[in-house]
Amino acid sequence: EKGGFRSFMDKEIHDQPQAVADTLLGRTNASGALVLDDVRVDETLLRAVNKIIVVACGTAAYSGHVAKYAIERWCRIEVEVELAHEFRYRDPIVDEKTLVVAVTQSGETMDTLMAMRHAREQGALVISIVNTHGSTIPRESDAVLYTHAGPEIAVASTKAFLAQVTAAYLLGLYLAQLRGCMRPDEIAAVLAELRDMPQKIHTVIERGEHVRATAESMRDASSVLFLGRHVGFPVALEGALKLKELAYIHAEGFAAGELKHGPIALIDEGQPVFVVVPSPRGRDSLHSKMISTIQEIRARGARTLVIAEDGDDEVHAYADEVFWIPQAPKLLQPLLAVVPLQMFAMALAAAKGLDVDQPRNLAKSVTVE
Ligand code: M6R
Repeated sequence: EKGGFRSFMDKEIHDQPQAVADTLLGRTNASGALVLDDVRVDETLLRAVNKIIVVACGTAAYSGHVAKYAIERWCRIEVEVELAHEFRYRDPIVDEKTLVVAVTQSGETMDTLMAMRHAREQGALVISIVNTHGSTIPRESDAVLYTHAGPEIAVASTKAFLAQVTAAYLLGLYLAQLRGCMRPDEIAAVLAELRDMPQKIHTVIERGEHVRATAESMRDASSVLFLGRHVGFPVALEGALKLKELAYIHAEGFAAGELKHGPIALIDEGQPVFVVVPSPRGRDSLHSKMISTIQEIRARGARTLVIAEDGDDEVHAYADEVFWIPQAPKLLQPLLAVVPLQMFAMALAAAKGLDVDQPRNLAKSVTVE
């Protein structure tokens, strides 16, 4: 039940620290090595994999986008992410050295099921990341990595997404371990950072009042844009999807670098734009690039709603609102940065008097192609 929360979605957002903690639990064997839940695949085959294709739909596909950055970084294996329905009908290049990762909360999404069946027919190995035990997709996979988010009732996916991202990190670390791409101490260091994430997610949720108040003041917005770079890009896409499905507002997510190739023409006086800012501590130019982006859109009249890490002194000057998140390693930031966007969409939908748990035209599980 809703346990005192206004909606299932509200409860499920608050369940997120636990969903991540439970997904991390019990993943190592007696000797401290990472293990998958249910493996029917020969490890020598996994060592020989030369390409990974993540297939999924909607929010689950965005967790795959995050997985791409992490797995390529940690394992140096090429990772493609493809919407399951597009993959299925384009005669994809797949063989015994391809690992297909099917990500799904329900385990029943027809598009994802058809895509993985197609891949297996071509000889690919399939590992699924699934939340629902006993569903069809894990039964048909070579191995399963369950997300332990518990039942997700609200149509808009929240805790399942955080658990999928967590499981994708675990899969990346598992492959890195298996293929000797990372030292055990490097893997242990990432795992330790992951174990700190539930507390940090909790902190973001506790700071939710500012997001709520901002959302309530934007009841009349007709369009909201979302920008991100690197792992912030899928976060932007997910923020836009949440807003569309819950508040029925036109919303689009962009890779920030793409702005000047077209979307910047959309910016005019008062246009609200969320910007996901990467850590200023990263030893790269991502942060300064995002600061320039914020300056550029502000100069054209945008109302900048910035998600930034605690201690980032540079964002203030150009942000109309800052939603602070705790510091985290660059690749893990999506687990924090997406939370204010979920809360924003939920609060805006509630402010418009809409049904947060059951948005119009949508079903929780899409079992038709
Ligand atoms: O059950 P699945 O994870 O396979 O579902 C995939 C999508 O249908 C799902 O994520 C959908 O996009 C949600 N409504 C997003 O909130």
